[in-house]
Amino acid sequence: MPVLKILTYPDERLRQVSAPVERFDERLLERIADLEETRLDGPAAVGIAAPQVGWFERVVIVDVSGRKNTPNHGRLVLVNPEIVDWEGYVVGREGCLSVPDYTGNVIRAERIRLQAQDPDGRHREFDMEGFEARAVQHELDHLDGLLFLDRLVSRRRDLFRRKTYR
Ligand code: NI
Repeated sequence: MPVLKILTYPDERLRQVSAPVERFDERLLERIADLEETRLDGPAAVGIAAPQVGWFERVVIVDVSGRKNTPNHGRLVLVNPEIVDWEGYVVGREGCLSVPDYTGNVIRAERIRLQAQDPDGRHREFDMEGFEARAVQHELDHLDGLLFLDRLVSRRRDLFRRKTYR
């Protein structure tokens, strides 16, 4: 399985709106496996979205289980995910494989209810909070061509340069 190339800002392809997955077949499973291998390459990212590797379908992977004291559902492969309910606002720091040189402060919903399909097409529903909810909202944005840079509280005060991705 290959590790795929990550598109990085300001690549215009990151602005594309991705299409729903319609076929739950072997090819979908293979592409998900490649996406997961890419997520885990180098320092593992807590999330990745298909369009970050030039695959413009609505698929994301999120896994925040490596963080201490963080409620989570383990590793989730979310196909055609949709937030159907949310509450609360919270500001938090985000990074992105597609924006390797910066982190930023972004406002997200504190709790969400998420509906999605699994890689076999089964419908599932999750209640999420905290960092997991944040990671999911960040990855879903990629499916609509949005980056955390578009949601900074203040571009002047809430964007931070960093040396290496971690
Ligand atoms: Ni990202």
